[in-house]
Amino acid sequence: MKSILVTGGTGYIGSHTVVELQQAGFEAVIVDNLSNSDRSVIDGITRITGIRPHFEQVDCLDDKKLSDVFRKHPDIKAVIHFAASKAVGESVQKPLLYYRNNLQSLLNVIEVMTAQGVPSLVFSSSCTVYGQPDVLPVTEDAPVKAAMSPYGNTKQISEEIIRDIVYSGAPLKSILLRYFNPIGAHPSAEIGELPNGVPQNLVPFITQTAIGLRPVLQVFGNDYHTPDGSCIRDYINVVDLAKAHVVAIQRLLQEKADAPVETFNIGTGRGLSVLELVDTFQKVTGVALPYRIAARREGDIEQVWADPHKANTVLGWTAKETIEDTLLSAWRWQLVVNG
Ligand code: NAD
Ligand code: WQD
Repeated sequence: MKSILVTGGTGYIGSHTVVELQQAGFEAVIVDNLSNSDRSVIDGITRITGIRPHFEQVDCLDDKKLSDVFRKHPDIKAVIHFAASKAVGESVQKPLLYYRNNLQSLLNVIEVMTAQGVPSLVFSSSCTVYGQPDVLPVTEDAPVKAAMSPYGNTKQISEEIIRDIVYSGAPLKSILLRYFNPIGAHPSAEIGELPNGVPQNLVPFITQTAIGLRPVLQVFGNDYHTPDGSCIRDYINVVDLAKAHVVAIQRLLQEKADAPVETFNIGTGRGLSVLELVDTFQKVTGVALPYRIAARREGDIEQVWADPHKANTVLGWTAKETIEDTLLSAWRWQLVVNG
């Protein structure tokens, strides 16, 4: 059976991807240092799929232990590299930590995989590379804008690192997936997002407020140039997002890629405002959500949503889940976490 090494595989997107990989017939080898996830996630994955993924508690900053993982699992055919620190605000406070963790981990992963003769890499990039696009929906060839945070900068630099290494002629080929805003949880409610402390992202903040852990949701700004004044994003269901990784891996392993580095937007193609999301959440759950309009959050982009046409046609991947089902899955997960 073909094994896929999933760094960051006990994290939010990684865990959902491990489930989809296993259900597509791959074996998953998770490498995670558990800096932002919990070992119990492995039990959740096992309950969904009936298969326990291999787990190696290893830090990607430790290249020797990373090499040992490849030696221990000689069937590894490709790598999905999720492991990174991802809190935008924290990255402004601790840039050194972010540059070291996100860039050195990537360098180690590439060095080790190429040394072990494993050329295929799927990388977690982000719509953050576009900043505020001039044209919406945004396509993959839109210009990359100056990063608004060290975190965003690590994604831009990571993409450049991968391109430079591939085009140097090294034995590496890669698919860069630019995620829009991942939300929701597995429909089984066995795995989901487990934010540390106060959530930074909108949907965990909504569900924690709805369940009473937080008094009120602040809507950051209603004076933007959008129909209802609040910011617009492209919210992508995490299971849909996970499935994009499976097709990307299949494309690399079947040598179907048109170029040694390919980039895809992974979004729905539909922009939703913060107020629309809040409204939909209340409708589908029947739970009243206390919220108030607050000042704009520094660094926020006004509006961004994907043109996912390239992923639809080239990868054969399309976002399927509705926003209603996705918000319900996030709510069911919150009820399990605080059950
Ligand atoms: P997450 O924090 O839930 O998962 C990341 C996992 O990586 C965690 O389990 C953490 O313990 C692990 N990790 C971090 N540094 C590590 C290291 N040095 N060695 C080993 N393991 C390490 O985050 P996520 O939301 O699942 O994000 C996954 C990837 O997707 C990240 O690269 C992130 O930047 C990217 N991304 C996330 C979003 C989002 O909104 N969630 C959007 C775009 C891109
Ligand atoms: C969404 C909208 C907020 C919280 C971030 C990263 C980006 C990517 C995805 C990794 C915005 C509003 C939020 C709240 C609110 N991650 N909001 N009240 O900022 O689009 O993107 O996560 O790559 O790089 O920057 O996501 O969920 O924080 O915010 O009104 O309490 O919700 O202003 O308009 P964002 P988010």
